[in-house]
Amino acid sequence: MTTQDDLRPILTTESGAPVADNQNTETAGVGGPALIQDQLLFEKLAHFNRERIPERVVHARGAGAYGTFTVTADVTAYTRAAFLSEVGKQTETFLRFSTVAGNLGAADAVRDPRGFALKFYTEEGNYDLVGNNTPVFFIKDAIKFPDFIHTQKRDPYTGSQEADNVWDFWGLSPESTHQVTWLFGDRGIPATYRHMNGYGSHTYQWQNEAGEYFWVKYHFKTDQGIRNLTQSEANRLAGEDPDSHQRDLREAIERGEFPRWTVQVQIMPAADAAEYRFNPFDLTKVWPHADYPPIEIGTLELNRNPDNIFAEVEQSVFSPAHFVPGIGPSPDKMLQGRLFAYADAHRYRVGINADHLPVNRPHATEARTNSRDGHLYDGRHGRQKNYEPNTFGGPAQIGRPLWSAVPVAGATGNHVAPSHAEDDDFGQAGALYRLMSADEQQRLIAGLAGFIAKVSADRDDIVERAVENFRKADADYGRRLDEAVRELRKQR
Ligand code: NDP
Ligand code: HEM
Repeated sequence: MTTQDDLRPILTTESGAPVADNQNTETAGVGGPALIQDQLLFEKLAHFNRERIPERVVHARGAGAYGTFTVTADVTAYTRAAFLSEVGKQTETFLRFSTVAGNLGAADAVRDPRGFALKFYTEEGNYDLVGNNTPVFFIKDAIKFPDFIHTQKRDPYTGSQEADNVWDFWGLSPESTHQVTWLFGDRGIPATYRHMNGYGSHTYQWQNEAGEYFWVKYHFKTDQGIRNLTQSEANRLAGEDPDSHQRDLREAIERGEFPRWTVQVQIMPAADAAEYRFNPFDLTKVWPHADYPPIEIGTLELNRNPDNIFAEVEQSVFSPAHFVPGIGPSPDKMLQGRLFAYADAHRYRVGINADHLPVNRPHATEARTNSRDGHLYDGRHGRQKNYEPNTFGGPAQIGRPLWSAVPVAGATGNHVAPSHAEDDDFGQAGALYRLMSADEQQRLIAGLAGFIAKVSADRDDIVERAVENFRKADADYGRRLDEAVRELRKQR
């Protein structure tokens, strides 16, 4: 009689030879030591020791899903990007959500910005929009990023995140006031990845067929509605169900409840930039909707779970430098730094052939480069020549820039960004505070005060600088925060 065991395929070693015994190590005699000739034991232990790759230095904790982007408006007056060329056109996507500061195994329900990294597999190559769930950021110059992240991560001595470091840095970096207000507002702890917006955050360039260019900001408005957790709900959930957001996303897609976002852009004609009231390339500021109303251009739906989290989520790579014809960078100094940082991180974290992995390679076209070899090269190019120019029919450049040249003037130097009439670090933080309901303001003050109050008792100077930034954003905001912090520090 055929048993269930007879129907199973044969277990093999990595080289495909049948495994004789997967339960008992080969030993010298009964009860004796293990033998070197038991290569299955060594193969299994050695592979296991190498299962981990370095986690992302930021945004280590995340979840992803494939989806579809559909164009719903004619934007050909603004960009010649092929995937945006026609109403109704669809493009496959992969979106990875994440938190920022926590390590790979951290809980999902924490107060932290959420990453919103979106890959469009377009016919002109992959276009990555590596954004967050916030339209602004803490700093506006890439040179400050490593220092900023050091304050968010673990202190070299205590091994924990320290309020002293966080508030010291934020107090000395007043440009963070807007994003910190956002973070401690209700949207600072989304209930799920599905119930939050995404933003491209930076200003990007769009160029049309005629060569005219525009500055754009992307908004992904959740169709599920905004839902957040209070701090106490989050504290409980983080303990009871650390994988809450990851599970919610997977299960919603399994149920066929595909999450959707309405995609909007704000468009600024290039000629407006120099005279705009704010520096339009300052990542700590939004463009008020009254100045540049968001227009709907598409929908994004997530509809397929990855089969293998390590292969498709952990090894996925996104780079703000992955553009397609008709879309390019702006002079935003943060973005300029990011154009370098990501591919460099990928080479270290995943390896030089990271872009060849199924989740990362183009799906609607093929990559044709003369780069070859390196760790885990799969020989995809076969006998093709590996240099250019060549007379063997190798791929050739298109000879047209992907985006428009931007005029610059002046001498090199470590310049601060060009100043505009209403540039300041506080106005929009105050606007956000005043936009919040009385209840949300109350929770904002309580959350900020609770954290600021943790600063060491002998470092009132750190507290004072921190509070002063919020006072400059809005007098009422500063006064209430000051009172709440004083009260809490008295009780310590
Ligand atoms: P608008 O009224 O035109 O826009 C307000 C925006 O704020 C809306 O997109 C809304 O998003 C969002 N919003 C509403 N309530 C909150 C909240 N409690 N926390 C965070 N965001 C919220 O005003 P302005 O364009 O003049 O912007 C005023 C302030 O709104 C800004 O300082 C900025 O902090 C914030 N904001 C602005 C955005 C922009 O692109 N201009 C985008 C997001 C926030 P929704 O429709 O999803 O509720
Ligand atoms: C991840 C650097 C600012 C969004 C990363 C990674 C690095 C990095 C090195 C890890 C990449 C990897 O290992 O694959 C920087 C630098 C910044 C910066 C140097 C500033 C100069 C920002 C900003 C945003 C952002 C402003 C959002 C607007 C993300 C996201 C990820 C990420 C979403 C996760 C990508 C993924 O899911 O794989 N960043 N970052 N970063 N960053 Fe940034």
